[in-house]
Amino acid sequence: MKVRKAVIPAAGLGTRVLPASKACPKEMLPIVDKPAIQYIVEEAARSGIEDILIITNRGKTVMEDHFDRSPELEERLMASGKEALCEELKAISNLANITYIRQNETKGLGHAVYKARSFVGDEPFAVLYGDDVVIGEIPAIGELCGAYEKYGLGVVGIKPVTREQIVKYCTLDLTPAEEERVYKVHKMIEKPKPEEILALYSILGRCVLPPEIFGILEQTPPGAGGEIQLTDAMQTLCARRGMMAVEYQSTRYDMGSKLGILQAIVETGMKHPEVGGEFTAYLKELAKSW
Ligand code: UTP
Repeated sequence: MKVRKAVIPAAGLGTRVLPASKACPKEMLPIVDKPAIQYIVEEAARSGIEDILIITNRGKTVMEDHFDRSPELEERLMASGKEALCEELKAISNLANITYIRQNETKGLGHAVYKARSFVGDEPFAVLYGDDVVIGEIPAIGELCGAYEKYGLGVVGIKPVTREQIVKYCTLDLTPAEEERVYKVHKMIEKPKPEEILALYSILGRCVLPPEIFGILEQTPPGAGGEIQLTDAMQTLCARRGMMAVEYQSTRYDMGSKLGILQAIVETGMKHPEVGGEFTAYLKELAKSW
């Protein structure tokens, strides 16, 4: 079955990037000239997804404004001969049909995804974590949707991680499938203790799930950090029906961490059509004197 819907959980408190995220949602932090959430919506749209639900929270309505039209601004740009920029702004509101729901209480990623139940209905759906931006030629969620459509099983997007990093994410027991970068998942553990580490791969920011996950989430007790963890529900799904993993090709940036934000800005800035050359030259000069 084709994946047509996506859910973007963006209701987290963003405590790792305070004070930047106090009044500005971390999903709205710019990577050069575009907010993080726009890269995520563009990735979904490039993968053929038509309907998107963003899970928000108090203080995050600025995301709704970003994906809405801005008639006064458009008029001003047209009047000053900036047609191309005006068209670029209009295109943001045409990326997909975007709706919003509030999580109300920050009880974890699993709790946030559960809020999407009536939006999703009886279809498979993509989940793009609101603070994981994936940039590259091949949209990551498109690769995962392809695997869902092929295998008919839930799919997680994975990347290799170090032993130091994995304890903050999750660990997976995997065996390779016949295609390159595709695996069968046997088990997953959220925030593993060092002695629980399986393969050095983690789920990073993307998955495609069957609607069955909602019944499982209903029964999933709070896990690591006292939150309802999506990984715990996916582990139940995995034990019941099996799941697949795809090591997606594009580069993932953790916009929920200070280092991730810097990496995203520097790497995107270096490739930026308008300022990339000058910025790269500046970095080279700076590196000489550092
Ligand atoms: P994180 O745990 O990275 O987000 O959740 P956080 O809670 O904002 O981070 P810190 O630890 O306080 O800095 C991963 C994704 O799940 C969303 C977040 O917005 C992020 O995109 N999330 C998390 C929710 O939507 N609701 C929640 O209750 C928790």
